Amino acid sequence: MNYARMVIEKEAPEEYGYDRIRYNLSESSIADQKLSDIGLSLPDLTLFYGEHRGDKALRALIAAQDAGVSPDDVLVTAGAAGALFIISTSLLSASDHLVVIRPNYATNIETPRAIGCTISFVDLAFEDGFAIDVGQVAAAIQPNTRLISVTCPHNPTGTMMGRAELDALVALAESRNCHLLVDETYRDLSYGKRLPSAASLSPKAISVSSLSKAFGIPGIRIGWLITRDAELQEVPRRQGADRHLRQRHRRRHRAWYA
Ligand SMILES: Cc1ncc(COP(=O)(O)O)c(C=O)c1O
Repeated sequence: MNYARMVIEKEAPEEYGYDRIRYNLSESSIADQKLSDIGLSLPDLTLFYGEHRGDKALRALIAAQDAGVSPDDVLVTAGAAGALFIISTSLLSASDHLVVIRPNYATNIETPRAIGCTISFVDLAFEDGFAIDVGQVAAAIQPNTRLISVTCPHNPTGTMMGRAELDALVALAESRNCHLLVDETYRDLSYGKRLPSAASLSPKAISVSSLSKAFGIPGIRIGWLITRDAELQEVPRRQGADRHLRQRHRRRHRAWYA
């Protein structure tokens, strides 16, 4: 990995200093909340290690939002950014190609770049109402394409693709044997009906979201990814099943088990 500090990191208001900003016309989430705003007061807590994949009750709440998603499909992460980093670094290597529908969140471009991947961009245009042309995405796919990456609801335009486009992207990922990443960080701020989480539609689709934007609590650093691809989660679903997955995991991570 060739790490480089992203412009978004250098220019973020928390780096620049909130006290130096008089009028913030480009805040990306609802107003930051205090514990009292959300009706919480914390009792004395023991800060022990939690469950590695995230608290089961939290994963169950996240999974319950969409039919067909189980708590084992959910991985709780340090914000959506943590989930996006995990996805890129688990799926991609330097010889891989991905298609990024742009504008996209910086991490979805810079992490694959740091890995050394080749990226084809499909740019959304104001003149088209930022609509996604699925044909253009299909045309950008190459034999080594491992990922199609899109943000919906879209940051920064606020637009949303329709159910037909989402279904077409899912079908495209399935037919070309790659994954579809839908960064759904703004899903709980959807205007009108929410789309189903992409991960609920196919094991080839991965959804990412967090509590940062719609709930105004980015400091809590709670995000998640959802995938029904058991190999990607490396979570054998049934006791005794998916033995080959566990064996492969052990082979790959021998040092952990030593
Ligand atoms: C589209 C999108 N995805 C992910 C993130 C990262 O969110 P988090 O604060 O949960 O890491 C942001 C934050 O700006 C975002 O706009």
